Order: sequence, then C-alpha cells, then structure tokens
Amino acid sequence: MRHIPTTSLRSGLLALLLSLCLALPALAAQKEGLLLVAFGTSVPEAQPALTAIDQEFRAAFPHSPVVWAYTSSIIRAKLEKKGVHIGDVNAGLEELARHKVDVVRVQSLHVVAGEEFSEMERLLVSWLARHPDSFKAVYLGRPLLESRQDAGEVCRAVLAATAGKRQPGEALLLMGHGQSHGRGDMVIEGMRAVLADADPLAMLATVEGSRGFDQVRAALTSGRASVVWLQPFMVVAGDHARNDLAGDEPDSWASQVRTLGLTPRPVLTGLGELPGVRAVFVRHARDSQDDLLKR
Ligand code: CO
Repeated sequence: MRHIPTTSLRSGLLALLLSLCLALPALAAQKEGLLLVAFGTSVPEAQPALTAIDQEFRAAFPHSPVVWAYTSSIIRAKLEKKGVHIGDVNAGLEELARHKVDVVRVQSLHVVAGEEFSEMERLLVSWLARHPDSFKAVYLGRPLLESRQDAGEVCRAVLAATAGKRQPGEALLLMGHGQSHGRGDMVIEGMRAVLADADPLAMLATVEGSRGFDQVRAALTSGRASVVWLQPFMVVAGDHARNDLAGDEPDSWASQVRTLGLTPRPVLTGLGELPGVRAVFVRHARDSQDDLLKR
C-alpha cells in the first residue's frame, strides 16, 4: 500500500476546500433573466391575463429581470401607435444582454408548439448564432401543453374557473385557437380527451384546425344540456374571445349555440388569469433543460 504523508493529504484537502469556497460565490453570482414571449394582444380588456403572468414570474424569480416580447408584428405596431412599446424576440435578448445576465430563461406563453412557437425558436437560434458570446446558457421553456401532467393541471384550472357557477347538467364549450394546416391538432385531441375524462360535459373545439364548432354541434344537440358555458382556451380573452366566441355576429359561437335553441353563457377569462395555468408556465421555465447554446 502506498503511503501518503498526512501533511500532504491535509494540505490537499485544504486546497480543495479553498477552491470550492472560491467557486461557490461564482456559481451563486450567475445572474438569470427571463424572456416571456407571447403572441401579444392589443385588446385592453385582455391585458389582465398578461399582467397576472408578469406578476407570477416576478414573484417566482425575484432576482431576475423580466422582459417581454410579442411575436405578432401587427400587434406590436398597433400598440406602438398607442404609445406602448413591446419589442420582438431580438429586442428582448438585446435587453437581457444589456442587463448582463448569464443565463436566460425564455418562456413561451403559447398554448401549443405551433407555428408561432417555431418562429420564436428560429428567431432565438439565429440571434444567438449572430451573438454567440452574449450568454452562458439560454433555456427554452416549452408551451403550456406538452405532457400528460400539463393537460391534467390545465384541465383542473379550467374547470375550476366556472366551479360553483355552472350547474350540474350544463355544458362547457372551450374555444382553442388551432391552426389551419393542422399543426397542434393532436395536442388539442389529447387535451380534449383529458377534459372529457374529467367532465363528460366539457368540450374543446378550435377557431382553426380540424375540430371547429361544426364538430361539436351534434354533441351539443344530442346532450340534455340547455345551457352552454363558453370559455376561451387561449392565454388572453382577446379578439377571438370577444368576437368569435361571445360576439353578436351570426357566426359567433354564442349565436350558433342560440340557433340550436340553447342558452350561451360566455365567460371572458383568459387562461393566463387562471392560477393553475400560470403555475404550469412557471414550472416549464424552471425545469427547462433545453439549452439553445448547447452544441
Ligand atoms: Co387568431
């Protein structure tokens, strides 16, 4: 057996301890910043959902600057005319670089990883390719619905929104966005299954995508419900919620429900206003291991 002199062992341990003590503050000093990315809204009544999300993230990450970006250039331009400046993804990263953060947590506030999410990811990756030394890590937080756990938590949050008001036997029809070319259809199908398991009278259809109002009409008329609660399944209760869901036009879902001889009860609450939904977004931001800088 090789003999190690106690003194060298002791000094070796001391050196190790010393280097750990020096390394720890450096680790702790890693400054984090958040970039919250939403489609955006120019409807003032829809703002409470985004404000609630903003407060939730500031409380969950008290030492991190929180920067917002809207992916919709049309909405950014509309807001700019009203004197409200919200930047795009590039501007958000530039701002966090000015804050000298080491680690960026980007959180998508999209419901499904559809076209908007992909565009956001492309913008992030191309900016980072042009500015490779700006950050040490950039974690990408996935949209609301990715896992069975997400669907379960969102289902509970959504059903809780009308709990106590919706009577037994009354239906609930949720309006998701969806996409015309079908991206996200299967996520919507999964969410629909989770909802139906929890509450047979809860239905989900979308403005675009394969499952619209026409696909739930039969279920609405064959059921015994005479009252149909209508609730947006979008982060904000914006234009779609106010016009396509609850509006007076003959093709709004409220009007179509009325045409079936049923009573519509619109609830204009965006998903972002539901605490259980915000908790999923925060969890995704916290748990993300998807570092866009990792080669
Ligand atoms: Co739309």
